[in-house]
Amino acid sequence: MYSLAVITALLAAAPALAQAPLWGQCGGGGWTGPTTCVSGACCQYSNEWYSQCISGSCGGSNPQTTTRTTTGGTTQPTNSAGGCGGGTPDVTVTGSSSSYTTKNKSGTTLYTGNNYLSAINAAVNGISNGQRVSVIASGSIGANTISISSGKTFEVCGTIDVGNRSGRGAIESTGTTGVNIPYLTMTGNPYFGLLFYGTRDLTLGQITMNLSGGMGIRFHRDEAANYNVKMDTIRVTGAGSHAVETWNINGLTINQVIARNCGECGLLLQKTNDAKVGLVDGNNVAAGTGYATLRFANENGRGSGNWNTNIYIDKVVSRGGGRGIFCVSQSGGAEIKTIDLASNGNNAILIENCYNVAIKGGTVNGGGEVRLAARTEFANNRDISITLKVDGTSVRESPCGTNIKWTLSGSGSRNIC
Ligand SMILES: *[C@@H]1O[C@H](CO)[C@@H](O)[C@H](O)[C@H]1NC(C)=O
Ligand SMILES: *[C@@H]1O[C@H](CO)[C@@H](O)[C@H](O)[C@H]1NC(C)=O
Ligand SMILES: *[C@@H]1O[C@H](CO)[C@@H](O)[C@H](O)[C@H]1NC(C)=O
Repeated sequence: MYSLAVITALLAAAPALAQAPLWGQCGGGGWTGPTTCVSGACCQYSNEWYSQCISGSCGGSNPQTTTRTTTGGTTQPTNSAGGCGGGTPDVTVTGSSSSYTTKNKSGTTLYTGNNYLSAINAAVNGISNGQRVSVIASGSIGANTISISSGKTFEVCGTIDVGNRSGRGAIESTGTTGVNIPYLTMTGNPYFGLLFYGTRDLTLGQITMNLSGGMGIRFHRDEAANYNVKMDTIRVTGAGSHAVETWNINGLTINQVIARNCGECGLLLQKTNDAKVGLVDGNNVAAGTGYATLRFANENGRGSGNWNTNIYIDKVVSRGGGRGIFCVSQSGGAEIKTIDLASNGNNAILIENCYNVAIKGGTVNGGGEVRLAARTEFANNRDISITLKVDGTSVRESPCGTNIKWTLSGSGSRNIC
């Protein structure tokens, strides 16, 4: 991943960057290639992820729009059909509370009635691997589970309200390959909003959860591992627990996690290796607890046992709540490019029994102290490098770790080794 500054520098250094060829990509989320087309072609906006050079001039009704500017995370389209419900979905669910209709694209009605869950299940069962369901309608599924099997694309353009099914997800995909959830808006108090394990090539797009309790997204603990998980923008408000909690992922790419008023973590990574995350942004997350906007725990980033750098985070922003950043229980192998933490109610940063963690820049403004600590059950911190401006709070290293490099500025008091 390159920072915006590096990309800008590269572009500046290479003014003769080629124009995109006819039918080539010329824009879209994460696209860093040419944004103009060869002569005779025009860059046609298709969706937020993709613009393409087409022959002749672009239609005025579908102008090119600017591309997104985030640097990290998922950059490939999750639904190239032009927004939720765009193109021709294989099956749609339409209607409202008194009457839902599930139809396939040849017009056959697969369900009609007042049960939103039945309408959705008819849709999901009515497509095969490689096909897409678009749930246009809004409604409630109660304390139930929708299961998505391999190769299916499931998108919710309305709002799905969910209940609390103990130990289960409102939407689950387990033991699957190639499941794609490009769009989803969820309300309610699920045990887990989305529950996964044993997945390969899972893609989540624009996921918005306005919850009144429960957990947002969970990759289960004592189950099969996941390989190659991609998430675009995950927004979770009001979860009682974590916005996003992972266990056992090998290969994870996240564009951004935005957590607001959540009881535990914004993003909690555990036994997860090979991760690239753009932004983790928490506001009033983990208030009154030891959790954090970003937490690494339970040997996160351990890799094959050497904690070589394999967890890359572009940016962490945290305001209020509990901790800002918390690394614990033999986690590490992590590099955080920049941070912006202020007024965290517990430690702004706590690093405890972690190995090979670098925070490469940014600021801490007030809130709890920046702390390196150790519990006795694991080896003490080692290979920690922190470059940071700290104001309005203190920095403390106790006990002294091994190979700890502090590059501090700002007026915060220091008690380091
Ligand atoms: C729609 O459903 C009907 C009934 O199951 C089926 O015969 C038809 O092939 C389906 N059409 C498509 C495009 O899948
Ligand atoms: C979710 O919350 C956001 C921010 O509070 C709000 O703008 C949006 O309308 C809410 N959406 C739903 C479906 O509740
Ligand atoms: C869900 O129900 C369980 C009991 O089965 C309860 O412990 C938990 O707090 C409930 N969660 C939510 C979010 O309501």
